[in-house]
Amino acid sequence: MFCVTNRRDDNEDWFTGAHYQHGQPFRTLAGDHIVGQLLSRRVEALVGNPPKARALEVGPGEAPLLERTAIGGKYYLERSYAVARKLRGSTPGAAVLLGDIREIPVSRKPHFDVAVAAEVFTHVLPERRLDALKSIADRTKALLVIDRPTMSDHAIGEELRFHMMMLALERGSQNVAREILFKEIPADTMERERLERVDFEPLAQRLRERGFSVEIEPIMHRHFTYHVMTARRR
Ligand SMILES: C[S@@+](CC[C@H](N)C(=O)[O-])C[C@H]1O[C@@H](n2cnc3c(N)ncnc32)[C@H](O)[C@@H]1O
Repeated sequence: MFCVTNRRDDNEDWFTGAHYQHGQPFRTLAGDHIVGQLLSRRVEALVGNPPKARALEVGPGEAPLLERTAIGGKYYLERSYAVARKLRGSTPGAAVLLGDIREIPVSRKPHFDVAVAAEVFTHVLPERRLDALKSIADRTKALLVIDRPTMSDHAIGEELRFHMMMLALERGSQNVAREILFKEIPADTMERERLERVDFEPLAQRLRERGFSVEIEPIMHRHFTYHVMTARRR
């Protein structure tokens, strides 16, 4: 049923660097005690009988959310070869596939009871996100997507400032935190932030058109607002 691809498109990965590397695994969504617990319960609620269910997690990184659930059939699709190799060692009960969200190496019918994409759409260029969503939606009966949502420039800037100040305080740098309070957020950082944020409305609309009922709910993680979108085939 499965074939493995190792197609990579690094142009789309604008922040695999410092933020992600330093954060793993404690700053991942699954690694956060409260958010990880909340999301795993949401995923379980989307399937009838978790131990009998089959689930796909796209871009699980080194901390798959599904590992926190009682779901029996776990499939991980990772674009990074290094991460996929680590996952094969750390999750012996799961099938780890190397591939891309926009070209899922599983045939095009609802193979999965639920699919999860936690902070993955942010890595896909905005104009390609609807295709990526379609690629998942064709293969699952339900899905959960979590990412940081688009907001006004002012709200994004202030959220980013708060996040940077909290990081400085965690490192014991009160002076740096105070400097950040009065500093301009550089234009290129702001531009990148804006691109990384996910506009959930067109995604939700596309899912509704494809026969899903959709809910979007805000949660907080690491001083950032996230949106959790859950969808189920009607
Ligand atoms: C920010 S990390 C999120 C990790 C984890 N899901 C979490 O919530 O903490 C994004 C992950 O998605 C993977 N990824 C990025 N683009 C992808 C794509 N187009 N297809 C599949 N995986 C992708 C990256 O390699 C990385 O492991």
